[in-house]
Amino acid sequence: MTISQTQQEIILKLDKLNLTNPQLEADFLLSFVLKKPREWLLAHPEFKLTKFQILKIKNLVRQRIKGKSLALLTKKKEFYGLKFKVNKHVLVPRPETEMMVDVVLELITRNSQLTTIVDVGTGSGCIVIALAKKLKGGKFIAIDISRKALNMAKENAKFHNLHNIKFLQGNLMSPIIKELRVMSYELRVVICANLPYLTPNQLKDSPTIKFEPQDALVGGSDGLKYYRELFSQLKLLPNKNITVLCEIDHSQSEAIAKLVKKELPDFKIEIKKDLCGLERLVIIEIKK
Ligand SMILES: C[S@@+](CC[C@H](N)C(=O)[O-])C[C@H]1O[C@@H](n2cnc3c(N)ncnc32)[C@H](O)[C@@H]1O
Repeated sequence: MTISQTQQEIILKLDKLNLTNPQLEADFLLSFVLKKPREWLLAHPEFKLTKFQILKIKNLVRQRIKGKSLALLTKKKEFYGLKFKVNKHVLVPRPETEMMVDVVLELITRNSQLTTIVDVGTGSGCIVIALAKKLKGGKFIAIDISRKALNMAKENAKFHNLHNIKFLQGNLMSPIIKELRVMSYELRVVICANLPYLTPNQLKDSPTIKFEPQDALVGGSDGLKYYRELFSQLKLLPNKNITVLCEIDHSQSEAIAKLVKKELPDFKIEIKKDLCGLERLVIIEIKK
């Protein structure tokens, strides 16, 4: 079977998924299996695939039809213009999370005071790695409860040639609270938290995410379990100047504002909308 015949067959099979651009998906899968760029495929429509390559493509298409994302099939995803490896132990980085990186970069540009950046629930490491690539100075700490997720994040940091990120395993900020010397008191701290925030019902209603780790997605019955615990941990940090950024589902904006008011002392809160106009990013400035 040639490249152009395989493309047609994949497009036909993917028809059930109602994709916006099945041609692009077919090319993406072919590029992945043949280890060639898309331009090469276009220039070689008559190239014949081996039996093994055809089997591999068929297997990928079967999994795609069952709802597995292209990122999980090819084990890679782009985030903030950078390549990240992903596996079944980490959440595939989402485009809406890029806004968190933008906001941190803005904050640092506005006030270039030396900053410790903590990425709590780092997963693939996409947030902290994107920040460490863009910022020259500062300290970077990445925390996750999952050892397997941390291993993926470390692999991604190595791939991006970054050796200035400290990786810690544990529950939210507890590895830092236990060992406060990893944090300099005089420094400003910026905490990036894209913690699991879906409710069990939201997970049930989204069949396409069933292949991603549940522990990375569900945040208790109201989705706010981890943010509740994070805010109560913040009182134990000695730093005087803390900014926390939390990604949320738009339905949680009122509840999280109430939670902040209840849990945190002197604070300023702002909620930013994503590109779809949905409230997505909570920015909390705490002055002790
Ligand atoms: C929604 S994913 C976000 C991953 C990554 N930051 C991103 O934006 O793509 C949440 C991450 O939090 C981690 N996590 C869940 N519970 C945690 C806890 N109690 N303490 C630290 N990390 C936790 C999960 O393992 C997962 O990697």
